[in-house]
Amino acid sequence: MAAYPYETHTYDVVVVGAGGSGLRATLGMAEQGLRTACITKVFPTRSHTVAAQGGIAASLANMGPDNWQWHLYDTVKGSDWLGDTDAMEYLARQAPKAVYELEHYGVPFSRTEEGKIYQRPFGGHTTEFGEGPPVQRTCAAADRTGHAILHTLYGQSLKEKAEFFIEYFAIDLIMSEDGKQCVGVLAWKLDDGTMHVFSSKMVVLATGGYGRAYFSATSAHTCTGDGGGMVARAGLPLQDMEFVQFHPTGIYGSGCLITEGARGEGGYLTNSEGERFMERYAPTYKDLASRDVVSRCMTLEIREGRGVGEHKDHIFLHLNHLPPETLHERLPGISESARIFAGVDVTKEPIPVLPTVHYNMGGIPTNYHGEVLNPTADNPDAIFPGLMAVGEAGCASVHGANRLGSNSLIDLVVFGRAAAIRAGELLKPEDANPPLNKASIDKALDRFDHFRHANGSVPTAELRLEMQRTMQADAAVFRTDKTLAEGVEKMDRVAAKMADIKVTDRSLVWNSDLMETLELTNLMPNALATIVGAEARKESRGAHAHEDWPNRDDANWRKHSLAWVDGTKVTLDYRPVHLDPLTPESEGGIPLKKIAPKARVY
Ligand code: FUM
Repeated sequence: MAAYPYETHTYDVVVVGAGGSGLRATLGMAEQGLRTACITKVFPTRSHTVAAQGGIAASLANMGPDNWQWHLYDTVKGSDWLGDTDAMEYLARQAPKAVYELEHYGVPFSRTEEGKIYQRPFGGHTTEFGEGPPVQRTCAAADRTGHAILHTLYGQSLKEKAEFFIEYFAIDLIMSEDGKQCVGVLAWKLDDGTMHVFSSKMVVLATGGYGRAYFSATSAHTCTGDGGGMVARAGLPLQDMEFVQFHPTGIYGSGCLITEGARGEGGYLTNSEGERFMERYAPTYKDLASRDVVSRCMTLEIREGRGVGEHKDHIFLHLNHLPPETLHERLPGISESARIFAGVDVTKEPIPVLPTVHYNMGGIPTNYHGEVLNPTADNPDAIFPGLMAVGEAGCASVHGANRLGSNSLIDLVVFGRAAAIRAGELLKPEDANPPLNKASIDKALDRFDHFRHANGSVPTAELRLEMQRTMQADAAVFRTDKTLAEGVEKMDRVAAKMADIKVTDRSLVWNSDLMETLELTNLMPNALATIVGAEARKESRGAHAHEDWPNRDDANWRKHSLAWVDGTKVTLDYRPVHLDPLTPESEGGIPLKKIAPKARVY
């Protein structure tokens, strides 16, 4: 058994991750007097939320008519009828309140002439239940909205005396002796190599997505699905992992994000013939159709030989017709990114772009309070005590098979806040914490020690690249039975090589070799669940575009996938989608006929 001394810390709540959802949860917990620790592997304001550009959706109706029912309808349709209706209603109804709270906390939103929060159009957000023109629903701080939110929430959390453990890497969850409750987390302090046990009444996983399971992603290199990895090792399932979003406009080559807000402000896409091809595919909403739709259309144009550039392998995004003041005022960040990463002056030339992995709709299953689910045959909504998940790490599920742009930032703050409200109801600071379990701590330390001394033949970077290339090629925008079956086989071989991993640095201080290896142990179960879930799903829905099964099949597949990952073995099962809204129509809820499944056209 590995002997590592550790320091024990006791809190009511431990939040893992300091992005938008982690900070909103931390702030909400601390505001209610819960002793709250936030542990994070990067400095809070370097969390990936800082890269969120275009904005945060809420039906404030500052720029024209809007209401929560239209937002709910668009989210249901965007999800391709796989989202849980109760959670989606919660999102759409709480969104305005959550945004005004952000404003009052100090987020420097862009402003209208009258001084209201500025809102721009975004893909898939409409009026009149999809019958009217695009709506301006996405609240923006220029094109640096995530940056503004993150800095504000960090400042507010400090004000409320939340305690931050910065550059601490969470190794594993600590489970109770009977394995039926989460009682804390084990973390490694990166700058001095010490070990830390956090005892808590509630652990909140806010660890973000796993975009780095793919070769080309807009996600930061830190997006390694750490929460999903920990949950899988704890024997809990992941949900709807086959739904991976490709953002239409990653910069060709670097993958760096060019916000959908660029098209919201009037930008448009063209092919090698100079044609605005989205007019052909989505006659009503054109370049502002939902993201999965635009990404597929771009891919089709390239496949059919109408891509641009020497290799005809990408598409142009035009902003050069927009007034320079708009670019300066509304899109300064992406103007700079285009110059740095594509050598393009957006006032004169189009930006070369390509659909790029951007977001994971799937994650750790939760209810709309953020409580983690451990579904059983008898109870598909059974709660796993002591554990919550929020943000991209979680799957509430408000995005179903496809997320609408700007519904991510609102998901972070609405469900970070919801988790805090729930914790306030459930936890009493005066109660004792559940007992720590030495066996669980030792197991986590043994795993750490195993990888620290791993002396196989495959370097971590090599194996990570093999995984990324496999996922990029075989779980792509379009999928087929053949590519998915090959992908499952390849990923099986790739994951098996974890047993032969080679770590060269044995030190405990700033050992990035070991940290990246532990991150790879987290990426791997996420990637396996994704490709195995995709291979099993014999239909097309949202971001899962299956060429051999081109239609959505509600009779057989309107259900959430669950994947338990144990080493290289993935076991699948399914749980029902929540069809009922929170509020019945008779009490002012959305009329059920408005959200009944139908063909999804834009
Ligand atoms: O395009 C963007 O600004 C991304 C927004 C989002 O993913 O919600």
